[in-house]
Amino acid sequence: MTNLHFNEAKERIRELRERINRFNWEYYVLDSPSVSDGEFDMLLKELEQLEEEYPELQSPSSPTRRVGGEPNKDFVQGRHSYPMLSLSNTYSREEIVDFVNRAEEALDLKGKTEWVCELKYDGVAISLLYEDGKFARALTRGNGIVGDDVSDNIRTIRSIPLELYGDDIPARFEIRGEVIFPHKAFEQFNKIRMNNGEEPFANPRNAASGSIKLLDPREVSERKLECFLYYLMGEDIKGETHYQRLQKARQWGFNVPKYMAVADGVDQIMDFINYWDEQRHSLPFDIDGIVIKLNDVGLWDKLGATAKNPRWATAFKFKAEQAHSKLLKIEYQVGRTGIVTPVAVFEPAWLAGTWVKRASIHNEDQMQKLGIRYGDEVIVEKGGEIIPKIVGVIHSDDKHTVQAEQNTVSFIENCPVCGARLVKREEEAGHYCPNYNHCPPQILGRFQHFISRKAMNIDSLGGERMQAMIDRGLVKDFSDLYKLRKEDLIGLASSNTQNKATIQEKGAQNIINAIEESKHVPFERVLFALGIRYVGEVTAKKLARHYKNINNLIAASFDELVQTDDVGKITAESIGEYFGNDENVALINRLKTCGLKFETEQSCGSNRFSGLSFVVSGTFDSFSRDELKQIIEEHSGKIISSVSSKIDYLVCGHKIGPEKKKKAEKLGVKMITEEEFKQMLNEKE
Ligand code: IVH
Repeated sequence: MTNLHFNEAKERIRELRERINRFNWEYYVLDSPSVSDGEFDMLLKELEQLEEEYPELQSPSSPTRRVGGEPNKDFVQGRHSYPMLSLSNTYSREEIVDFVNRAEEALDLKGKTEWVCELKYDGVAISLLYEDGKFARALTRGNGIVGDDVSDNIRTIRSIPLELYGDDIPARFEIRGEVIFPHKAFEQFNKIRMNNGEEPFANPRNAASGSIKLLDPREVSERKLECFLYYLMGEDIKGETHYQRLQKARQWGFNVPKYMAVADGVDQIMDFINYWDEQRHSLPFDIDGIVIKLNDVGLWDKLGATAKNPRWATAFKFKAEQAHSKLLKIEYQVGRTGIVTPVAVFEPAWLAGTWVKRASIHNEDQMQKLGIRYGDEVIVEKGGEIIPKIVGVIHSDDKHTVQAEQNTVSFIENCPVCGARLVKREEEAGHYCPNYNHCPPQILGRFQHFISRKAMNIDSLGGERMQAMIDRGLVKDFSDLYKLRKEDLIGLASSNTQNKATIQEKGAQNIINAIEESKHVPFERVLFALGIRYVGEVTAKKLARHYKNINNLIAASFDELVQTDDVGKITAESIGEYFGNDENVALINRLKTCGLKFETEQSCGSNRFSGLSFVVSGTFDSFSRDELKQIIEEHSGKIISSVSSKIDYLVCGHKIGPEKKKKAEKLGVKMITEEEFKQMLNEKE
């Protein structure tokens, strides 16, 4: 308790929000923080406490809301204040010159126009609405007229200001920009996905677009997205030029990129294009071209727009870079879930700012499509993608000779590491090694996954030491970790001959402590840690909630599994296969004996809602929608998905689906608020 009077609390909250917003801006926009992370965290914590104590002072634009609220079922749609147009584009420099000439002719300003040159960020377009200096809403492009309201997700992007500071801020305006996934964050994110046995995203643009459409803002908040803003629209925006307006927007707190220049004609536009065509690979994010916009905003209306594109702006697009190189060999990598990926190894080629010598061929289908043969020249491309891919081959010998036949690459039949015969399922594109329990890269990968932070959180152990322990026979399966003694670890060096550092007494104790601690890890994370193919973090959580303990899950039939939220056919099959293997069940029993949690925490259920049925809609302050549903079920109530005259209550959260509400009103179904629900919950039975 802070013991502040209401007005004091209000003032302190205002002050804290302002300071936190400023520190956020310094950190995420200016990249020059003026406080330490520790100080920042303390202020944020203080604000969280105050808002908890004074719920009436909570606000959706508070920086405490950045971590992400409850999952949404569907996105509500919103209408753009102005249609969201896109840009005409071309790969030809001549057409850029023609475009500028046409605009100058139409305006009768031959040789007298100014153009703002900007980078063309390769991400997802977003339109942000601000009202009274506060973030009000974010819409995707949608069909250009109506888009999805992704405000809860966008709020988690730290560089987007929730409140604006400065002068001349219009009462209501939209600002448009691009949500992007910077390279570093994208790579980290894909690595985690692969460790979880999930498909990596092909490029940062797809990942950004998938991210802003996620239903759970908490997941979005972990993805370290960025947003660059480049276009202001509204009635009372001061500033006669596009350039001046953007500078103003930067002062209000927006992340307006510095990479722009005013050009006074086609020569300078070409200089900008040529410079970035060369330099674009030095940027920490993807761009796919250059945008030019007429600087004098007063002339925009004079030029107008076609149905799709304005006539005062256009885009020059860069060609995806390609390189040719001689194929040396095909390697096969085995992942922790046994998936075998073919990788082309070729002579080093300079491509998009780096030397590359390996590129994924994904799977057998791709290999056949390419018709790749030993001795071929491969065409490697790096478009929006970070990981290069083979887009074509030039055969060394194009005739159907015996030699050509012999040189054709065919997918291996046995695991390149353990020799087991590979398996290929009809509905899946990849081959995998079925030697789950004895194939070395699978064993190491599984251990690395098991000890990772989001699983059992024993990651101080590290991958190389893990390998050394496996090599020495100290651990054969996960349960052996729980038998380790400090003495086993002291003096252990990594398996990597370059890294000679050995574990000392203190390090060993820390590892033992972390192992001990991991016995408190909840069931859902233990389930995730087991590394069942296709059971990522979210699926594990849903399975744990649904089945409550491992025995129920082991007993679940295929039909039951596919009925579970988030579980499709392939996942259900994989779960069935995992528990169908006696070795896995025996391992689970050993882990149970070690003290790991294989059931969800007991809740104090009751019969309070027995015989009552509920529809839950919207988002809530005290629980996520799933939690609320779980509470109802724990107290013997029934959850129904759609409103009908048979239900007893519609629990109404924020942003409740308008259709549900209308229907409930029409049918006379009782509607209750979150507060009323809480009262019902606390009433005596
Ligand atoms: S201006 C009416 N500026 O590229 C003009 N767009 O079709 C609105 N883009 O839809 C767009 N960088 O998603 C503009 N500096 C930039 C941009 C940019 C990327 C995207 C945007 C647009 C698409 C072109």
